[in-house]
Amino acid sequence: MRGLDSIIAKYLDTRDLAQEDIVFLLSLESSEARPLFELADEVRRESVGDEVHLRGIIEFSNYCSQACLYCGISSLNRNLHRYRMTTGEIREAARKAAEMGFKTIVLQAGEDPYYEASSIAELVSDIKKMDVAVTLSLGERNREDYRLWREAGADRYLLKFETSDPELYRRLRPRCSLERRLQCLSHLEELGYEVGSGIMVGLPGQTLSSIAHDILLMRKLRLAMAGIGPFIPHPATPLASAEPGTAFMTLKVLAVTRLLLPWANLPSTTALGSIDKEGRRDGLQAGANVLMLNVTPVEYRRLYEIYPAKAEVEDDPVSLKAAAVELVTNLGRRV
Ligand code: 5AD
Repeated sequence: MRGLDSIIAKYLDTRDLAQEDIVFLLSLESSEARPLFELADEVRRESVGDEVHLRGIIEFSNYCSQACLYCGISSLNRNLHRYRMTTGEIREAARKAAEMGFKTIVLQAGEDPYYEASSIAELVSDIKKMDVAVTLSLGERNREDYRLWREAGADRYLLKFETSDPELYRRLRPRCSLERRLQCLSHLEELGYEVGSGIMVGLPGQTLSSIAHDILLMRKLRLAMAGIGPFIPHPATPLASAEPGTAFMTLKVLAVTRLLLPWANLPSTTALGSIDKEGRRDGLQAGANVLMLNVTPVEYRRLYEIYPAKAEVEDDPVSLKAAAVELVTNLGRRV
């Protein structure tokens, strides 16, 4: 494959890729893509090493004021039983995760105004006393809230831009704009958070050229983390009958992202593990170095159904962690 060889050679020389090179890589057939995955795996080893970081994620509320067309917990879904964990329950879940040895706790929820900025800040500072890093993933808030939480000790913030195509963005996220999203990311950066963002792969109307642009934007933002998962249509959303993204395309996007963001923490996402049972393992071999494990109390877990058939809804945190350690060890890597 001359095209592939010359793109790889150029990459090794410049550590950069042009938009059209990325499109070429994303167009590779499954019989051709192996060198891309091997290169991404090599770059991952050189730049972030063989360690795989485990994060414990607590999904503490499935209330959401947004109306994203792809998302199962969007306010458009009237048939979903909604839950909110109390701050006591959240603290307890975090304490259990910290005792199990998780070094990072991720607090995620729908955009739920019920929790005041000050109560989140208090929660962050309590969890920080457990000697863990805290990542927040609470959507778009004003700069003042982000500042308060940062001062309370939050280390990282995860806010995916989902797609960098402004038209597609507006269509899938009504009432929102890409511009506003990027503004939030820039506030987070200024406030000293380690910023994570990312995209979905296979959104209806998304092109390879738009994904190439997404990857270049993630590089330009110099993201510390980038989450890349396949779009999975949810039956209770307007996109119920759309085609899902594929594991293969997601792996190619992940691999190219590793080439262009060698420094970044890249999770092998739950969504990838949900569409393909080997997905998480394949992701770890195509550039990823992070696994996010669900430590939400089991009784709430199935209600946080962003997409259907989400992996791990039934397993308790202890067996999830054991399975992750086994997966990582079998790959000759370490937690
Ligand atoms: N399929 C896959 N991922 C989804 N997300 C939301 N809805 C879906 C879906 N239908 C992802 C988004 C969001 C993250 C919390 O979940 O990327 O940022």
